[in-house]
Amino acid sequence: MICVDNNRSKIEDLKRGAVPVYEAGLEDLVRKNTEMGRLHFTHDLKQGVERSQVIFIAVGTPPLDDGEVDLSNLEVVAKDIAHFMDDYKVIVIKSTVPVGTAKRVRMMVRENQKRSVEFDVVSNPEFLREGCSVKDFMHPQRVILGTLSQRALDTLKRIYSPFYQNRTPFVICTNETAEMIKYASNSFLATKVSFVNEIANICERLGVDIKEVTQAMALDKRIGPEFLSPGPGFGGSCLPKDLWALTKIAAWSGYDFKLGKCVMEANRRQKEAVVSKVKRLVGALEEKTLGILGLSFKANTDDIRESPSVVVIRKVLEENACVRVFDPAAMNEAKKLFPTIYYGADPYDVARGCDCLIVLTEWKQFKELDWEKMKSSMRSPNLVDTRNICDPLRMRSMGFNYLATGR
Ligand code: UDX
Repeated sequence: MICVDNNRSKIEDLKRGAVPVYEAGLEDLVRKNTEMGRLHFTHDLKQGVERSQVIFIAVGTPPLDDGEVDLSNLEVVAKDIAHFMDDYKVIVIKSTVPVGTAKRVRMMVRENQKRSVEFDVVSNPEFLREGCSVKDFMHPQRVILGTLSQRALDTLKRIYSPFYQNRTPFVICTNETAEMIKYASNSFLATKVSFVNEIANICERLGVDIKEVTQAMALDKRIGPEFLSPGPGFGGSCLPKDLWALTKIAAWSGYDFKLGKCVMEANRRQKEAVVSKVKRLVGALEEKTLGILGLSFKANTDDIRESPSVVVIRKVLEENACVRVFDPAAMNEAKKLFPTIYYGADPYDVARGCDCLIVLTEWKQFKELDWEKMKSSMRSPNLVDTRNICDPLRMRSMGFNYLATGR
């Protein structure tokens, strides 16, 4: 396995065994396989292409300002691969790309080849989650292979054969279907989270506990227990971007994907509603000290892209609040966006002098806090627990003015 990137410092770090992202189990995996001589890192794309039979494209496909998918990285890589191809290659698109992209890549490779060499393009979307990506990759719930080429399929089946032994379902389909499966899956997950957030908001107003509601909903196999935790809105590098992209893809196809647009709106509102809850407890934010627990978009990652915490911090800073934050992994990332706020040594340090604490990420260590100790150093015992990590009765009996999500 030869990993190629044009970011030289990343490649140099990886060669030394330093993994640039916070991801459980990844560093061990990289170290073990590098030592065994099976994993190599280079910025030399020519070498990577010439020495490989199968080339996985896993570049970013971020949204442009209008939500359209930016395919420029993918296009550059496709042209470069074409340029250096010397023998039959299977080009596998792992990146999330709009329907029709594989076809476009096929044309682009053909037009940019120096000499005519056979190749196939397979659409093989990836469904791993940040924070448990190694486990998800090793134990996928399904493997999607979008191609009409039997030759390419045979090659990929050999690569994925360990999963066959695990009886993982394989879905063989066209490139276009594979591309759509990825957008439909992520948009469905986004919709499920927003649905439960909306139900939580209704529960909150009616005095019903969302936890009891979702526990009972989960018993229906058609609904299932996953993705039923309400919170401050979904974030990350995939769900928001892919949902937005699907509304654009739908528009090109001549369809107004109203449900997708509503979910985006509900998610925006969910993030902003956190600030309204804080105001319910402390009034105007001017000169109030707010403590934020959690910066990453979910636990077990240092990724703050589209994180509800970023939205909340921006908004309260605009209203002249003083902000103290702590996150077990994401503080370095956050410092790039918010260089002047206070970064605490731990949650107890953040609590000092606060008018209100806001839990925004469900890190395990936040669930195990000594809340009496937290409260003793706060200026006022106000707590907005957007992830429902605390027991409402216990917190209220401890003297906290406590607001959760849907409880
Ligand atoms: C997602 C998809 O799950 C994965 O299949 C795809 O490959 C990439 O995008 P990821 O971005 O790592 O993975 O995050 P995920 O675990 O799906 O969570 C997304 C967001 O939804 C997070 O902000 C999370 O906090 C939120 N969420 C999730 C909830 O608020 N409640 C839930 O019950 C589940």
